[in-house]
Amino acid sequence: MRLLVTGATGFIGRTLVLRALGDGRIGEVIAPVRSAEKLRAQLAREGVVNPPKLNILEATAPDWDFRALGKVDRVVHCAGVLFGRSREEYFRVNVDGTLRLLETVEGAPKTVLLSSQSAGGPTPAGQTARRIGDGDRPISWYGESKLRMESAVREMAPQFPVLLLRAPMVLGPGDQATLPLFRMVRGFVWPKPGFKSKHFSWISSDDLVDAIQAWFERGPEISPFTANVTSPGTITDRDLMQTAARVSKRQGLALPVPQAALRLVALASKVIPAIGENVPSLTPDRAREIWPNRWVLDARPFEEATGWRGSANFEDTLARTLAWFRREGLV
Ligand SMILES: NC(=O)c1ccc[n+]([C@@H]2O[C@H](COP(=O)([O-])OP(=O)(O)OC[C@H]3O[C@@H](n4cnc5c(N)ncnc54)[C@H](OP(=O)(O)O)[C@@H]3O)[C@@H](O)[C@H]2O)c1
Repeated sequence: MRLLVTGATGFIGRTLVLRALGDGRIGEVIAPVRSAEKLRAQLAREGVVNPPKLNILEATAPDWDFRALGKVDRVVHCAGVLFGRSREEYFRVNVDGTLRLLETVEGAPKTVLLSSQSAGGPTPAGQTARRIGDGDRPISWYGESKLRMESAVREMAPQFPVLLLRAPMVLGPGDQATLPLFRMVRGFVWPKPGFKSKHFSWISSDDLVDAIQAWFERGPEISPFTANVTSPGTITDRDLMQTAARVSKRQGLALPVPQAALRLVALASKVIPAIGENVPSLTPDRAREIWPNRWVLDARPFEEATGWRGSANFEDTLARTLAWFRREGLV
């Protein structure tokens, strides 16, 4: 079987490639990346050197073209812009890049496109969880680009099975987005946006890879199929801080900071790029996703359709993430 994974130098793509390299059913893993050298160096740090079934190509979205590859059996599209500098950059990569992939890939492969809960927006008021079919109201350029990607794929109506997978925050070893959290809990005071607790769905990278595998094997023949996926349980921003501190063997206090003050910091990042570089979620656009108090998803339809259920434990996932940061010398 030939598997094409985009975004292999990123957190989720790399997790998928490492899993696929150890899967005897997969004969070739094709990884189009912007820098082959970056991917080779990352894999070497995971103890994987020149694996014979890995085919690394250099290609950049949206100008990539996969026709020369011939037929592939499965695609997982992880390449994307999560923290861009302009609306145009989000749309060019997340929308145009995805369409170009679907237009040029051959063999009618089963295809998973990583969308995001940001495409739908926060949980609608009065509901415990956002369902597929609730009115989509993205509140960031990132979310708008993911929603547009989904609708553009529907308009294109590819003649092969496509899953539009709306993931919540993904946690696990290799996730750079939680580095500021682990660095913060080394101090005693942990600034927390707003006075009320914020509630989130989450998914471990291992659960996400298992969910993708389950859809490949047992996914419904509806295309495109849009679905939410989550690991068990809802977490709060305080849980994130306290659990990151516990696994780091640190103690401290969450200090609620008025959101108005944080809005000013996010605005300041327009003129002080170092703010966004150190905490990417504080760029003015992505910061809009910090203010709502509920980002919880209903994943039951996907679970019913595939028989898959997440099984990750939140504390264990954060402990393994920290171990990875320590190994990389980042904390
Ligand atoms: N992480 C989460 O919590 C989360 C949650 C929901 C959905 N998602 C979605 O899951 C997917 C993967 O996320 P991630 O966390 O793995 O992100 P990531 O670590 O930032 O990785 C992004 C990947 O996309 C590649 N990329 C960016 N622009 C590109 C371009 N123009 N051409 C080719 N490759 C490009 C990056 O390559 P370089 O290494 O060359 O920069 C990298 O390999 C994304 O679509 C994201 O929206 C993620």
